[in-house]
Amino acid sequence: MDLMRMRVEARRALTPYITEFTLAPVEGSALPAFTPGAHVTVETPSGAMRRYSLVNDGEAPERYVISVKREAESRGGSTSMHDDATEGTELNVEAPENDFPMSDAPKYLLIAGGIGITPIYAMANALEKQGKDFGIIYCTRSAEETAYLDELSEKFGDRIVVHHDDGDPEKVYDFWDHFEEPQKMHVYCCGPKPLMEEIEAISGHWPEGRVNFEDFKPVDVVRADDEAFEVELKKSGETLTVPDDRSILETLRDAGHATVSSCESGTCGTCKTRLLGGEPDHRDMVLMDDEKDDYVMICVSRAKPGRRLVLDL
Ligand code: FES
Repeated sequence: MDLMRMRVEARRALTPYITEFTLAPVEGSALPAFTPGAHVTVETPSGAMRRYSLVNDGEAPERYVISVKREAESRGGSTSMHDDATEGTELNVEAPENDFPMSDAPKYLLIAGGIGITPIYAMANALEKQGKDFGIIYCTRSAEETAYLDELSEKFGDRIVVHHDDGDPEKVYDFWDHFEEPQKMHVYCCGPKPLMEEIEAISGHWPEGRVNFEDFKPVDVVRADDEAFEVELKKSGETLTVPDDRSILETLRDAGHATVSSCESGTCGTCKTRLLGGEPDHRDMVLMDDEKDDYVMICVSRAKPGRRLVLDL
């Protein structure tokens, strides 16, 4: 894919962890158009390629606007955008692609969790422009961590419900009323995996195609030719078999172990686990080369064929 050379024209801190970047072409002014839900792949200053949803109007864009959340454990993509992509920095950017396109419907429900607001905001603006009937549910931990809070509230008034759960599983938004009866509306959802899984679970009785998810899949979590392998948990003394169609993380969870994860696709760094032995097949986009002997991202990585892993768990 051709890369465009773009310059960081402006940065705006939206929350303590989320920054908006306005990218302008280094040469010329016309940029490829895009539709709501589209993303660009950016070569971050660290060299890591990252996908970011486009927030602005894509009809005849002169700029691309993206927002990036600094992931706590990241050392590659998001941290380098925050720390090194200052105003004037030039970046390589791939032309927009859309894996989360909207289709025509009488009514829409847009659901965002955290940084998942970025494609949802673009969709809401497009629906507003077309005079469509829509509502937004936007779930975040707290007002302080809510990107675009004031402008969304101002623009969309009572069509947006903003819900804060303070990180307490007891306070998560109850979506059931929206999904109990299948409706003639289309739902678009983008957010952390647990949110998308919940919506998927409670909308199983809806007709196919009505409920849509933005699902970045930078890596295949499980591949067709994957084999089962063993993981030894040094601290607990257990040995678990990771089936050919499950990740280490899922296997731990299935066995009743408390796990921490977020993206579950090898990009955020949350599930980083100390490796004590074995030969891993690293499939994440987070670990630096000098960490690969000592750590493994258990949401995506496996053991090399015929090998086992020993984890500090
Ligand atoms: S949960 Fe994000 S890298 Fe594993």
